[in-house]
Amino acid sequence: MRIVTSVRAMKSAAARFKAAGRTIGLVPTMGSLHEGHLSLVRASKKAADVTVVSVFVNPSQFGPGEDLKTYPRDLKRDARLLRAEGADILFHPRPEEMYPRGYRTYVEVHDLQNRLCGASRPTHFRGVCTVVLKLFHIVRPDRAFFGRKDAQQAVIIRRMAEDLDVDVRIEIRPIIRDSDGLALSSRNAYLSAEERRAALVLTRSLKEAKMTIERGENRSAAVLARIRRRVAAEPLARLDYAAVVDPEDLEPLAVIQGRALVAVAVFIGRTRLIDNVTVETAKKKRR
Ligand code: PAJ
Repeated sequence: MRIVTSVRAMKSAAARFKAAGRTIGLVPTMGSLHEGHLSLVRASKKAADVTVVSVFVNPSQFGPGEDLKTYPRDLKRDARLLRAEGADILFHPRPEEMYPRGYRTYVEVHDLQNRLCGASRPTHFRGVCTVVLKLFHIVRPDRAFFGRKDAQQAVIIRRMAEDLDVDVRIEIRPIIRDSDGLALSSRNAYLSAEERRAALVLTRSLKEAKMTIERGENRSAAVLARIRRRVAAEPLARLDYAAVVDPEDLEPLAVIQGRALVAVAVFIGRTRLIDNVTVETAKKKRR
């Protein structure tokens, strides 16, 4: 596995792969890798000739007062894990390499970027889209792999790639969880033992929501009330949002019919965690 740190070297490696007719899979990450990330690397290995994994803690997607400085970084460990998976290139640019002096251009996906996580992190998705589009140009992937754990991010990136005519297939992969159900996240490393236990409130409230819907509750308000009640009962937790939306366009659903995405963001102490579940109910037949 090659570790590439400059944009120029990454571009010429990509050009060589293309010239040789090899397909490129890209897995964008912020490092501190876990099984969720590695599942994407495996998917890319299967689907593409060459797998490039980017590890870049992207400053532009962190808001003021967020955890840019403390975000866990361990490149040696990441490189070891990626080598073991058989990744071909680890792209690890420095922030000045991606955002040199004079940098002024940002990508926005209107409306979608303001919902759910965007409401409390107003510049987050602009940063995500900007760095992901840059990565698309630098790495020129045929396919790019993202996790459903960040369901809104996946919807937004799909929209961006389509709107801006990027020739890349966006692949969205399932959420990988710990044995007790907590969705894996690099930010789980922030949790104390007590907070780690409290964090299960995300898993449990979503499980309850799914069960409630599957048993026939189709009013989102009733489902959301249950989630709120459960989170309020956990002293270490504070709800940022809970929402039931259309999984395609993230529009809020008042009545659940067909597919719905139930998404939550919860502060556990100072750590903000997200999780979601997709439910599918039979559409009512018209008489
Ligand atoms: P990061 O949080 O490192 O996640 C990188 C990719 O791994 C994302 O596509 C995310 O959805 C996926 N992922 C994270 N946890 C997962 C889990 N438990 N199961 C399955 N997939 C999981 O998301 C980002 O970085 C950044 O915003 C990025 C897209 C790299 C842009 O900077």
